[in-house]
Amino acid sequence: MDKFIITGGKELSGSVSVSGAKNSSLALMPASLLATGVSILNNTPILNDVFTMIKLLKHLGSEINFQDERLEINTNKINKFTAPYEHVKKMRASVYVLGPLLARFGKAEVSLPGGCAWGPRPVNLHLEAMKKLGAEIDLKDGYIIAEAKQLQGAKINFDISSVGATGNAMMAAVLAKGISVINNAANEPEITQLAEFLIKMGAKINGVGTNKIEIQGVEELKPAEIKTIPDRIESGTLLIAAAMTKGKIKLTDTSPGHLEAVLLKLEDCGCKIVRKENEIIIDAKNTELKPISITTSIYPGFPTDMQAQWTALMSLIDGVSTVTDTIYFDRFKHVPELNRLGGKIELDRNTAVITGVKKLKGAKVMSTDLRASASLVLAGLAAEGTTEVLRVYHLDRGYQKIEEKLKSLGANIERVESKEY
Ligand code: UD1
Repeated sequence: MDKFIITGGKELSGSVSVSGAKNSSLALMPASLLATGVSILNNTPILNDVFTMIKLLKHLGSEINFQDERLEINTNKINKFTAPYEHVKKMRASVYVLGPLLARFGKAEVSLPGGCAWGPRPVNLHLEAMKKLGAEIDLKDGYIIAEAKQLQGAKINFDISSVGATGNAMMAAVLAKGISVINNAANEPEITQLAEFLIKMGAKINGVGTNKIEIQGVEELKPAEIKTIPDRIESGTLLIAAAMTKGKIKLTDTSPGHLEAVLLKLEDCGCKIVRKENEIIIDAKNTELKPISITTSIYPGFPTDMQAQWTALMSLIDGVSTVTDTIYFDRFKHVPELNRLGGKIELDRNTAVITGVKKLKGAKVMSTDLRASASLVLAGLAAEGTTEVLRVYHLDRGYQKIEEKLKSLGANIERVESKEY
C-alpha cells in the first residue's frame, strides 16, 4: 500500500493541466449501456474509480478499449444484469447501472451500497424514482432486484436534490414510454453533461441545467461520442494548494464557470484570480490571507467535495472561520488528522470551527476517504518538515497522478511503497 512523503514549505508555481471529471465519467460510462454499439468518451481521467466502473461494465458484457484518456465502450454483447457486491462496495457510483439496465433490458440486480467512511449514504431516492417509472423493486439478500417490462413516463418529485438519483432517473426515463418530469433535479455540471450525452444518443430532454427536467421517452438510443468536462474538484484542490503555499499557478484545460463559488471565496480570502475561457490563474504570493467561512450546498453553491480542502486552508489563516457541511453532516474525518499536524479545529455537529495557526508541523497522518486525503496532502505541502500520508489508495480513486501534477508545480512529494496501514 503506497504512502506519500511530503516535505512542506515549497511555494508552488507553474502551469498544470486539469484532467476530465471523475464524477462525469462515472455517469457517462453507464449511460453507454442504453444503446447497442460503441460509445466514445474522450478526456476520461485515468483513476481507480474509472477502472472500477470499467470492471463492472466488462462484467455485464461490455468490451472496453481505454487508451490515452479515450474510452471506447462496446455494448453489443451485454449478457448480465447484475452489479455484484464486490464492485459496489468499492464504489457507490456503481448504482448508476440500475437505471440504464432497467430501461434497456427490463431488469437489474444491484448490490446495496451500504455506508461510507463518513456515514450513511442511502439510495432511497434512486429506488423511489424507479418505482415511479413503473419498476417493481424488491430488496433481497443485500441486493436491489428491479424489474419492469416497459418503464412508463412519470412525475418524479425529489425531496432532496440528489446528483446520483437525478442521473439514474434520467437514464431510466429516456427509454420510458411517454413524458417524465423530474422536479428538484440536481443541476451539477456532471448531470448537465450526462443530459447532453443522452441528447447526443437521441434522447429528448428539456430543461437541461435547471432543476426541472422534462423527458419525452424514445424507443431506442444510438451510441455517441463526447469529451468529458474538466474536473472542478481537482481544479479547486490545486488552487488551494497554491493558496496554502503562497504560490502562483495556472490551471489549463479547466472550466472557471463550474467553480465560481470556490473562486469567489478564494478572492474573499485575498487571492488574486484571473479567469480565462479554459484557464484559471491564482496568485497568493506575498498576500496576507483572511479567514473566510463557508457552508456547502448544492450547485452552484460551495461543493461538499471541496469542504475538507477549505478546512485545511483555513487552518493556516490567522483568525477564526467556520466550515459547515449541509450535504453530508458527518464528513469531517479529516479534522482529527489536521489537528495531528498542529491544526486547531473543533467540531460542533456539522460545523468545523477553525482557529488559524501560524504553522502546521509535519507528522504521520491517515487517509480515510478521497477528499479528506486531499486535505491532508494540502496540509502536508504547507507544513513545516515531513508529512507522511498513509493509505493514498483513497486519493488514487479520484485524482489522476496528483503527486506528479504537484511535483511539476515544484512540490516535494514522493510516492513510496509502505507496509504501514
Ligand atoms: C455525488 C458525487 C459526490 C458528491 C455528491 C454531492 C458522484 C459519483 N459522486 O454523490 O462526489 O459529494 O454528489 O455533491 O457524482 N440522498 C438521500 N437518498 C438518496 C440519495 C441521496 O437521502 O437516495 C442524500 C445524501 O445522503 C446527501 C444528498 O442526498 O445528503 C446528496 O447526495 P447525492 O447528490 O445523491 O450524492 P451522490 O450522487 O451519491
